[in-house]
Amino acid sequence: MILVTGATGTIGSALVGELLARGEEVTALTRDPAKIEPRPGLTVTTEIRKARAAFLLAPAGPAIPGIDRAFLRQAIEAGVERVVKLSAIATPDAGLNTWHAPGEEAIRDSGRPWTILRPTTFASNTLAWRDDIRAGRPIPNISGAGRQGVVDPRDVAAVAAEALTTAGHDGQVYTLTGPELLGVPEQAAQLAEVLGTTITTVDVPPAREHFPPEIADMALAGALLVRAGGNAIVTADVEKVLGRRPGSYRAWAADCFRAG
Ligand SMILES: NC(=O)c1ccc[n+]([C@@H]2O[C@H](COP(=O)([O-])OP(=O)(O)OC[C@H]3O[C@@H](n4cnc5c(N)ncnc54)[C@H](OP(=O)(O)O)[C@@H]3O)[C@@H](O)[C@H]2O)c1
Repeated sequence: MILVTGATGTIGSALVGELLARGEEVTALTRDPAKIEPRPGLTVTTEIRKARAAFLLAPAGPAIPGIDRAFLRQAIEAGVERVVKLSAIATPDAGLNTWHAPGEEAIRDSGRPWTILRPTTFASNTLAWRDDIRAGRPIPNISGAGRQGVVDPRDVAAVAAEALTTAGHDGQVYTLTGPELLGVPEQAAQLAEVLGTTITTVDVPPAREHFPPEIADMALAGALLVRAGGNAIVTADVEKVLGRRPGSYRAWAADCFRAG
């Protein structure tokens, strides 16, 4: 059995589908079991359980270190044999996104086989543009000319499924990106083509006030790094694990972006 935490979220829900499609028995962890539709092969739980392998995902924010440590402690107590942690790019090497650094360290010290996944910015983050697109407003662009290797969250889930179910991933840190560097104006142009509409962007230099107070320091530092070109990174890790090119932003938008 494979345990998936964060199972109702972007990556976790895609991962549950990927594992079930491979014929795996899956236990999905959620604080609210009513959120998950019953499916053959799927068990829903509110507690960490013994598993052949567990996918550990903490929701973004300053609570990540505490949730990571609690999940890992409970997983080891329950007898989980292998762990795959969803982290984030540039963690902790660039001294940024230190929310994930304690969890990465705890996984490395856990005595269990581990794999760490460090994705870059998700294609699905652009779903936050829906209200502006519907209202015909320009998309605020805090990244300026900064470009990133936007990754399809379905590829992150597919890599997680490989790391959870196949050999050869112990002690590996995979930095997961899409196939090309894109800035916000380029993403907006591709999305506009896919949707058959016009989407404009407006440059907005990042400031603390753009972010909720509890994440403002980290979010501002990250935004400034991206804006300065510091996250202009494309890797071959998705292809290395999946044996195929990563999906493009355009393909994700065509399959998954719903304006409604
Ligand atoms: N977005 C990006 O561009 C990006 C890039 C790199 C890395 N990341 C990392 O990706 C992770 C987020 O992944 P995601 O976007 O798939 O998540 P998401 O869609 O925001 O979903 C979060 C999940 O966490 C669960 N959750 C919420 N609060 C919780 C709590 N207090 N304790 C335990 N579980 C809780 C939720 O489950 P229930 O509500 O059902 O319990 C939900 O399934 C973060 O760690 C972030 O740093 C994101």
